[in-house]
Amino acid sequence: MRPRIAGTLLLMVWVIVAAVLAAGGPARAFLAQVEAELKEQTQRVMAADWIKNTYLTEDTAALAAAVNEELLAVTSRHVRDARRFQGQALDPESRRKLHLLRLRTPLAAPSDPAQRRRLAKLREQMDAAYSRARDCGPEGRGPCQDLQQVIRLFATNRDAETLRNAWLGWHRQGRLQRPRYTEFVAAANVGAREFGFADMGEMWRSAYDMPPAAFAREIDRLWRQVRPFYEALHCHVRGRLARAFAGSLPADGSIPAHLVGNLWSQDWSTIYPLVEPFPGKAGPDVSAALARGKFDPIRAVTTGESFFTSMGLPDLPKSFWQRSIFTKPAGREMTCFDAAYDVSGDGDLRLKMCVQPNAESFATVHDELAQIYYLDAYRGRPELFRRAANEAFDQAVGSTVTLSITPAYLARLGLADHALEDEQALINRLMQLALDQIVFLPFARAVDEWRWGVLAGQIPPSRYNRAWWELRRRYQGIVPPSPRTEEDFDPGAKRHIPANLTYIRYFVSYVLRFQLHRALCHAAGVSGPLTACSVHGSREAGKRLWEMMSLGASRPWQEALAKIAGERTLDASAMLEYFAPLRGWLDRQNGTQRCGW
Ligand code: SER
Repeated sequence: MRPRIAGTLLLMVWVIVAAVLAAGGPARAFLAQVEAELKEQTQRVMAADWIKNTYLTEDTAALAAAVNEELLAVTSRHVRDARRFQGQALDPESRRKLHLLRLRTPLAAPSDPAQRRRLAKLREQMDAAYSRARDCGPEGRGPCQDLQQVIRLFATNRDAETLRNAWLGWHRQGRLQRPRYTEFVAAANVGAREFGFADMGEMWRSAYDMPPAAFAREIDRLWRQVRPFYEALHCHVRGRLARAFAGSLPADGSIPAHLVGNLWSQDWSTIYPLVEPFPGKAGPDVSAALARGKFDPIRAVTTGESFFTSMGLPDLPKSFWQRSIFTKPAGREMTCFDAAYDVSGDGDLRLKMCVQPNAESFATVHDELAQIYYLDAYRGRPELFRRAANEAFDQAVGSTVTLSITPAYLARLGLADHALEDEQALINRLMQLALDQIVFLPFARAVDEWRWGVLAGQIPPSRYNRAWWELRRRYQGIVPPSPRTEEDFDPGAKRHIPANLTYIRYFVSYVLRFQLHRALCHAAGVSGPLTACSVHGSREAGKRLWEMMSLGASRPWQEALAKIAGERTLDASAMLEYFAPLRGWLDRQNGTQRCGW
């Protein structure tokens, strides 16, 4: 019997291998051609994008939009052509490439040209309407202010009535967006179905190397880890808001959206002065030291580069210094948002940034350079793998590095007097950070859970706004400043909805940031608290970081994580460990008072 079983097995293996080889040949040839075309097209997009973003005119914007649209059309064509390999036995690399091809753009364009044009038009109209939006008061009668002015107002004004009016004024724009968004959802789903997904939400959730439903469960698991901490923070902040805005808080324990210093209640750090644990206790004044030390933009960037070379990463190429832009050029329009590029895709690394002599900008330099090193590390990979491990990884890597800007690191640079942080200054710093990082998580979850529900048809247009506020209330404990109706469309007042940008990536990247930091600290052999750890100078941490980054998207992100952390699942415990001193302080403050909503 035995030799016969062995023979049958051998035959089966042979049949499978032959099938894989037979199908694999055409698939590999197809992918080689797709990658060559995508590489060329992507280079054009990058060049057009660089020019537009560093020399903004109507012409450069139109050219950039045109090549971007071309790339979208080319990608959609490739995805449709690739359908002939569906269900065939392929080698793992080709399988992965075909999967990544379907996820390359956040929007799947339908094959019918009229539908495709309509979808592009709707997105463009929603985006344009958002950029033109103004707050013209609760009745829309004016006077008006633009988004930057409203953001500033929320950061600085503490008059409940003024804030409420501005909030209502800004959110009026949703009414215009609602019919377009409703049509957009249907059209986008047509494309997603053609790409082989149940709907666009499922397509987005498929970008995490696990079944879409398992990914949604992961988000829930991570949120459960953080929720008790968020509740403690919410409780403390609410108590302080009740003092500052006497009579403006509802009795049910929730917080009205207009009182937390941010138009979307996603980052409460501007109300820090109202909740500061130890008044006046601050760490080193890095901005003053930077200004005193005359850290011009070049010096800030070379200092950032030294952070990475101290970890054994290579020097940045000469062309980086020749082609990057660190200050806003005179005599032409340039958007100042920070961006990292590899324009040619072959190591043509560039930074576009308006570097300022302050602590925030100094941290951003480190963040952007990390993303530049990421581009450099995976540039030798095939085109479809020249990406971060998933859509959250590049941002996470950048922000991880900024956690290493500790008082000790600053003291080494001559930017701080003391390498040690005073306990009270630390708790203050953690409070400031938590008002941004911890507070953000329930917001991000609500945004994309809403969208997943809408895209799957579980939230029909007749419940768009109600469902939005149910989720905001459930996760954030935030309620609208006054009752809303289905005439309103409050999701439309947050850019990522009309611009169709995925949002859960930020949730993942915030969690990942602390997990990567803890892992790099362990690699560096630092055993003290995570708040005091800088991986500056650690070759071992540098080696692991580089190994992880150089994988690009060639392997599932779990393997990339394992390269640094030795673990394959996301884990918010590092975040909790980082904030532990603040958590202890909050629990003592909150004591036995009733919390929650
Ligand atoms: N950049 C994202 C936003 O603006 C997340 O912080 O909402």
